Amino acid sequence: MDFDAKQQLKDLIFLSCELAEVKDLDVLMEKILQSAREYVHCDAGSIYIKKESQLVFSYTQNNTLQKLIKPDDKLIYNTFTVPINNNSIAGYVTITGETLNIPDVQTLPENVPFSFDPSYDEKSCYITKSVLTVPLKSRSGDVVGILQLINALNDENIIIPFDSEALPYVEYFANCAANALERAMLTRTILLRLIRMTELRDPTETGNHVRRVAGFSLEIYEKWAKKKGISQNEILRTSDVLHMAAMLHDVGKAAISDFILKKPGKLTKEEYETMKKHTLYGAQLLSDPTTDYEKAAQIVAMNHHEHYDGKGYPGHIDPVTFEPLEGFTGKNGLPRPKRGEEIPLMGRIVALADVYDALSFKRVYKEAWEQERVLAEIWEERGKQFDPEIVDAFFDSLIVIRNIADRYSEEDMYQMPRQKN
Ligand code: C2E
Ligand code: SIN
Ligand code: SIN
Ligand code: FE
Ligand code: FE
Repeated sequence: MDFDAKQQLKDLIFLSCELAEVKDLDVLMEKILQSAREYVHCDAGSIYIKKESQLVFSYTQNNTLQKLIKPDDKLIYNTFTVPINNNSIAGYVTITGETLNIPDVQTLPENVPFSFDPSYDEKSCYITKSVLTVPLKSRSGDVVGILQLINALNDENIIIPFDSEALPYVEYFANCAANALERAMLTRTILLRLIRMTELRDPTETGNHVRRVAGFSLEIYEKWAKKKGISQNEILRTSDVLHMAAMLHDVGKAAISDFILKKPGKLTKEEYETMKKHTLYGAQLLSDPTTDYEKAAQIVAMNHHEHYDGKGYPGHIDPVTFEPLEGFTGKNGLPRPKRGEEIPLMGRIVALADVYDALSFKRVYKEAWEQERVLAEIWEERGKQFDPEIVDAFFDSLIVIRNIADRYSEEDMYQMPRQKN
């Protein structure tokens, strides 16, 4: 084996091991595509996840389209579903379970058993030429998803076919990716079931609220962190724990009665006092955290209703005894609310993401607000309810945030794929 091949193999093993560290599904898909694209040097790529008899287009990256927007902005995309049949390359590869390396989809021979679906290119004004489509197979050999790499580039950034010698390496990587994906999907499913059974107790609830809050939080964090010059590795690590923690922000509502939780009108003062305890119940549920994920989830549960100006709740309080923390008893005998940077960063972020969602969407107790009114309210609370830096990061990511809101406004895409195109 020559030096180059050895180094390639080393890189590959390193990349594959890294995947095992990431636990959150969304962050994992980002990492898989990033690593695969760097490894084979290509312009774009997508991940499809198999859901029953459909493929869900779940994540995409595209360097060319990325260059048309600001470097730190995320690509806007829609999730959609593709039937598993020979009308698309991804569908065909799901059926055969074999890697397919196509030098140029624009000049497919007449007699191939599959066809290229140009509709995605048309919508995104992109031209796909070389396509490497790799099945993501679980340990038991089932195809759980598809990794599609698009437009391999040479050193002059000219589109070339994918190097067939790289295929065994890419397949090895895809196997590791499939295992990591399977694990992350299981974790996600359990998390959503837990949230559904406890917080919402509503069989029609789809998990969209928590997904949106988690998605918004991640965008805000990444914008904020990039401005602060935080390293890419640190951003990835924090994103991974933050996304899951944000999904669990209201898990303490499990302990709140249906009467209060689902009350169509305004809460009385006592009912609201009871409701406020959901922050403490959440922190209790997650007490004795053993992993970074549980720690982050506890911090978020406890701190997502604190206000930057010190007018939020529950303040400096012990979630187990409900007693004020030593030295933090206010004049009224109650714990003093946290303020400013006393509130952990993840709490300050989820606080804004949660309110943005609560105002933008319908709740049992209120109608959805017009976007303009929502944005005016958030701007008004800059430096009051919300950390000004977090508000700025929010407005900087608004386009992506609207895209997330649209993506998760109907049914649960991993549970019930919907036909969008
Ligand atoms: P949630 O529905 O997820 O709302 C999260 C936060 O969004 C609220 O925290 C509040 O800061 C903000 N928010 C929601 N609606 C409005 C609004 O109309 N105007 C403004 N300025 N902010 C709004 P908060 O107030 O601590 O409430 C925590 C949770 O308590 C809410 O979570 C909701 O589950 C419940 N809740 C609050 N008020 C009512 C109510 O009047 N009726 C019912 N049934 N539940 C309520
Ligand atoms: C397909 O699998 O036919 C779709 C290819 C693409 O999205 O570029
Ligand atoms: C939703 O919009 O998905 C439901 C909102 C909620 O119940 O909090
Ligand atoms: Fe809450
Ligand atoms: Fe909430």
